[in-house]
Amino acid sequence: MKRVAVGVIGTGFWGENQVRVLRQRRNADLVAICEKDERRAKEIGWKYGVPWFTDLGKFLRSPRLEAVTVCTPTQTHLWVGLSAIESGKHLLVEKPMTGEAQTAEKLAKSAKKASLKLLVGFIERFNPGVTAVRKLLKQRAVGDVIIATGRRVARWPMRIGDVGVVKDTAIHDIDAMRYLLGEEVSAVFAQTGSLRKRAYEDYAEMMLRFDGGTTGFIDANWLTPRKVRTLIITGSDATINLDYITQEITIENSKQLVKPYTPWAEPLKLELENFASTIIQDKKEAPSGDDALRAIRICDAALESGRSKTLVTLKAH
Ligand SMILES: NC(=O)c1ccc[n+]([C@@H]2O[C@H](COP(=O)([O-])OP(=O)(O)OC[C@H]3O[C@@H](n4cnc5c(N)ncnc54)[C@H](O)[C@@H]3O)[C@@H](O)[C@H]2O)c1
Repeated sequence: MKRVAVGVIGTGFWGENQVRVLRQRRNADLVAICEKDERRAKEIGWKYGVPWFTDLGKFLRSPRLEAVTVCTPTQTHLWVGLSAIESGKHLLVEKPMTGEAQTAEKLAKSAKKASLKLLVGFIERFNPGVTAVRKLLKQRAVGDVIIATGRRVARWPMRIGDVGVVKDTAIHDIDAMRYLLGEEVSAVFAQTGSLRKRAYEDYAEMMLRFDGGTTGFIDANWLTPRKVRTLIITGSDATINLDYITQEITIENSKQLVKPYTPWAEPLKLELENFASTIIQDKKEAPSGDDALRAIRICDAALESGRSKTLVTLKAH
């Protein structure tokens, strides 16, 4: 089987997970890592037995390297991504891509112009629970969908410092809802704020109006002691509940409650295998730069609505 030679840029919390998972993929070889902090670079290099670099230019010239994952802080994603593209590498850029519509568009266009694959780290698309819910919705298991309610709450993550809870956390629910409902968001109303008086918002309640008539509601914060990540889809005939963490699903109507069994699998493994197979088989990118751009525009609309306390409409793109 053909394999892709991959390197990881930024081996902090999330990058280390990618290193661990990439070492065991059937269609990818981890060939090098790049980490700015020399102590951390050495530590991860030794722990996983992989060549390490602190200099991005030298790393990008590693023999065999074909593709990279970008796991550095969000504000570096544009220049790190552009450097990878200039060196002819395919990329998986972590969410929220560059965090801004203009730069996200620039990065996506640059990859396209260079005929390189660019995927974005919307990992929930690879959650087996989400895959099962999507199948159920296609089979019209709930009838007509009325509302999708997402809840993603936890304590303050000490390592995140360059985006707020909307672009760091709620963006997963935004992408999951677009993916599951197959509709685009036309307007957003949100309440946002910073209870801990930090530079960015630490809570957001967002109501999304989808163009097919469905409503999305997202409750995201960094204020609650216990991590909760759930989705409820209410339709005319039944309701689906998904726990993103356990990947358990229940379907309930007026007569019965059913728990279909979906075998648990690590979404990151499936995401990285999809990245490699997209390159090997020259598949269309999914989730793509365009998916990231749309999600960022929805986040920006939510932040604007939070400031103006009005409904913000999105232009059709
Ligand atoms: N998909 C997911 O579920 C998920 C989960 C967590 C984090 N993330 C994303 O991953 C990214 C990183 O988050 P994190 O929590 O791992 O942050 P982190 O701060 O733990 O790690 C970032 C690492 O990048 C290194 N770094 C910074 N600039 C660099 C550069 N120019 N070259 C090489 N290394 C550099 C830092 O030294 C640090 O070790 C963010 O975009 C975040 O949104 C995604």
